[in-house]
Amino acid sequence: MTAPIEHAALGFTHGEGIRLVRADGARFIDAASGTFNVPLGYDNEAVVAPVLDQLARVSHLGSSFSRTESARLVERLVALAPGGMTRGWLRDLTGSTANECAVRIAQKATQKSGVLSLFLSHHGQTLFTTAISGNAFRKESFPVATADVSLKVPAPYCHRCFYGATYPSCGLMCVERIHDFLEFGGNGRTACMIVEPILGNGGNIVPPPGYFEALKRVCDAHDILLVADEVQTGIGRTGHMFACDALGFEPAMVTLAKGLGGIGIPVAAVLMEARLDVLAPYEHSYTSGANPIALAAANATLDVLADGRLLGEVRENGRLLGALLAPLAERHACVGDVRGLGYMWGVEIETPDGAPDPDRTNAILAEAERRRLIVRSSRYGRGNVVKVRPPLVATPDDLVEIVDTLSAAIAATGEAAR
Ligand SMILES: Cc1ncc(COP(=O)(O)O)c(C=O)c1O
Repeated sequence: MTAPIEHAALGFTHGEGIRLVRADGARFIDAASGTFNVPLGYDNEAVVAPVLDQLARVSHLGSSFSRTESARLVERLVALAPGGMTRGWLRDLTGSTANECAVRIAQKATQKSGVLSLFLSHHGQTLFTTAISGNAFRKESFPVATADVSLKVPAPYCHRCFYGATYPSCGLMCVERIHDFLEFGGNGRTACMIVEPILGNGGNIVPPPGYFEALKRVCDAHDILLVADEVQTGIGRTGHMFACDALGFEPAMVTLAKGLGGIGIPVAAVLMEARLDVLAPYEHSYTSGANPIALAAANATLDVLADGRLLGEVRENGRLLGALLAPLAERHACVGDVRGLGYMWGVEIETPDGAPDPDRTNAILAEAERRRLIVRSSRYGRGNVVKVRPPLVATPDDLVEIVDTLSAAIAATGEAAR
């Protein structure tokens, strides 16, 4: 496969809203929101001020000492969470460790071991979350004994259906065949299935209507806990606090990270139903988990989103972003599909015969960067989807500028416009 590009070290000295600024004053629009973890913009005072205040008072407390503050944040999160989630775990730092925490909870609660996940999924960078993620190239150099634990099944990727079928006449084969995978490919003891509501790094793959209802039926039939990995999709990215709400996904657990820190402050959480509150503190607790700075950032982020105004804007402006991006498929022969929700969109780049074109995608990213627009590619999938995910505070004018620049970058990579 084509190696994913590393972005150049552009020498940014500071951030202003949705822009990153170089020492020479050059301003770049960051339409990737950092690493999808700067939803409120780089210098949002509503988060910067409480974080600085916290830093000045006390920068670290062990998670036992910050128990009261953690419990308060959990209360706020579960009040917003989908389904019957009433408990939470905050002794994490990143999305990777939150996903490991969810697996630990599932294993302890069910006394089973297996983890079901999707092709093209990305659940983290630790050895275990790399092993349960749905791509091979990131595992090549790291043998780890998860063969008997990890089972992966095709993703709901209608544009490139694994089964060569078409929705809805496919009858959601990507779900229905999971029964067979479990029976013949699993370890007979599957504890949980972990799913990104929209597969982020795999290519901004939005499942078709009915997918999650059908998936829940399969999981219920096999007594498997459904875990929503909302590390990318959570905290407003889709115009809803949780993407599960928008997509009819009813998980037993949700993992959060990235956007929860508002301006890129690392913080992570697992939310779960009361019956899944099974871990003892020593079973999953990181040195800097639930640290006061992270808690301050998360609380301030929720304060910003609390009145629903920004979420409403993301829903409305997200429709505009979709309407601006859709014509790219008419304008450029290499654009094979445009899909997304809220401020989470993907533009799929293909060769003339419809194959994924990661080289062209990399060229588009480099050209966009030359034009001072930062976008990222689906580097853990086939590498051929340009991900357009501006901070939630991007205005309609910003969106127009982003799409115009992207369109110009696509054209400049050498194709006759349609
Ligand atoms: C869906 C998803 N889950 C988990 C992770 C891992 O999060 P982190 O890098 O914070 O460990 C990522 C990171 O990109 C992600 O996109």
